[in-house]
Amino acid sequence: MTEPATTAIGIDIGGTGIKGAIVDVLSGELLTERIKKATPEGGEPDDIVSTVKELIAELGDVPEGTPVGVCFPAVVEHGRTMSAANVSKNWIGLEAEKLFEQHLGVDITFVNDADAAGVAEAHFGAAKDVKGLVIMTTLGTGIGSALIYDGVLVPNSELGHMDIGGRRDFEKRASFAAKERGKLSWTRWTVRLQAFYSQLEKLLWPDLFIVGGGVSKHHKQFLPLLNLRTPIVPAMLRNNAGILGAAALAAHAARNTGDRTTGDLLAKTEDR
Ligand code: BGC
Repeated sequence: MTEPATTAIGIDIGGTGIKGAIVDVLSGELLTERIKKATPEGGEPDDIVSTVKELIAELGDVPEGTPVGVCFPAVVEHGRTMSAANVSKNWIGLEAEKLFEQHLGVDITFVNDADAAGVAEAHFGAAKDVKGLVIMTTLGTGIGSALIYDGVLVPNSELGHMDIGGRRDFEKRASFAAKERGKLSWTRWTVRLQAFYSQLEKLLWPDLFIVGGGVSKHHKQFLPLLNLRTPIVPAMLRNNAGILGAAALAAHAARNTGDRTTGDLLAKTEDR
């Protein structure tokens, strides 16, 4: 019997950048430098696949059979991308996992970016050993979300797209990009975040909120302004969360035979 994988490649595809590294999935440490490439203009599937291929080549000699996990800002059902809120519409309905596998010549695990970040926080960060419902939110170009219950991911929540107070698709008002677009002060932005997190509290009664995305490094500017009954903390893994979560999920999938798609994500965080 072969030894279970303790290292995996994690790739995090975003609207502006694509990041990747080799990860020790037991400790959550990066074993290589993190490589970052610009997302090709237009974000078309074939261009992104080529960039990911180049990035993996730059990671150096990777032992054959190293699991590869890729996360992406869309709903991912059974390896197929089902939405495209801030990326090219050509991803909608695409067999993305298959496309990557064909070009990279290896099996991959393809998941939603916020789900990957949530899994990373559950394995190595702010949600480690937290019981009950943790809601991970990422504040970036959009708002991503991950639901983790007793360490187990419930994939493909899309809480950033809720309508709140008559405003449609609330990520357009409360994402970090919305703050920048509207040149909002921390205080004015926090009014919108308050509406967002209050709504989540009202509907889901979580035990913990985690706030990720690049802006989470400035958490002291806005988290103390929020008035919530649920504890709310910054993500611990910051920029590496997507890479770490994608790698952890890929390593887990490699340890388990069968379907490597979001269909079996429910079980993927169980045997930590
Ligand atoms: C997408 C999500 C994604 C989030 C963060 C949203 O617009 O619908 O799938 O997780 O952005 O990238």
